[in-house]
Amino acid sequence: MKSQPIHPDFDRVLLNEKEIETICKELGAKLNKEYAGKVPTILAVLKGVTPFLTDLSKEFTFYCDYEYVASSSYHGGVVTSNWVEIYLWPRLTLRNKDVLIVEDIVDSGLTIQKIKQKALSEGAKSVKVVTLLDKPEGRKTKFVPDYIGKTIPKLFVVGYGMDFDEKYRNIPYVGVLKPSMINMNPKDYPWKKGE
Ligand code: PRP
Repeated sequence: MKSQPIHPDFDRVLLNEKEIETICKELGAKLNKEYAGKVPTILAVLKGVTPFLTDLSKEFTFYCDYEYVASSSYHGGVVTSNWVEIYLWPRLTLRNKDVLIVEDIVDSGLTIQKIKQKALSEGAKSVKVVTLLDKPEGRKTKFVPDYIGKTIPKLFVVGYGMDFDEKYRNIPYVGVLKPSMINMNPKDYPWKKGE
């Protein structure tokens, strides 16, 4: 696999493509043990989870269904808010299902707590959570994910699905933006040119 040079808006890479691949293989092996002989429903939390969901799913050896939930907590900013909105939920019931929630990052824990409670209130048989990144220093709840790819310090990270102003989700690694990008007047963002 040929790696791209680091994006000019990035200060540094926190998790490169090779490290992400290794994490997906390790988490996949653990989940294959957890769900051997079961048919879980994968409940993927949009939008940030999509690259991780794709790569992690390639490791699964069990049968599974896919459902999607969408929520918003950052609301375009760099810090998570206390208000979590669920704006998409599966039509099919989660009743009696073994549900595996897949997340890109757990920060305050408010999003995942709300989604897990909603799945349990629908009568899910079991609910487990796998996340690529865990940021325990950001926690506003006591939530602990069942499976964690990497624990990171309290940094605002983008790439590999994660965004700043909805951008950088396509970058194949996780990194930290330059302070000049974060502090830039929004009207000067490179993607605003020509508007
Ligand atoms: C991010 C991330 C998690 C959530 C974590 O999503 O994908 O779902 O925030 O934050 P929390 O633990 O503090 O609740 P976001 O709300 O930015 O939506 P997006 O994935 O569509 O960008």
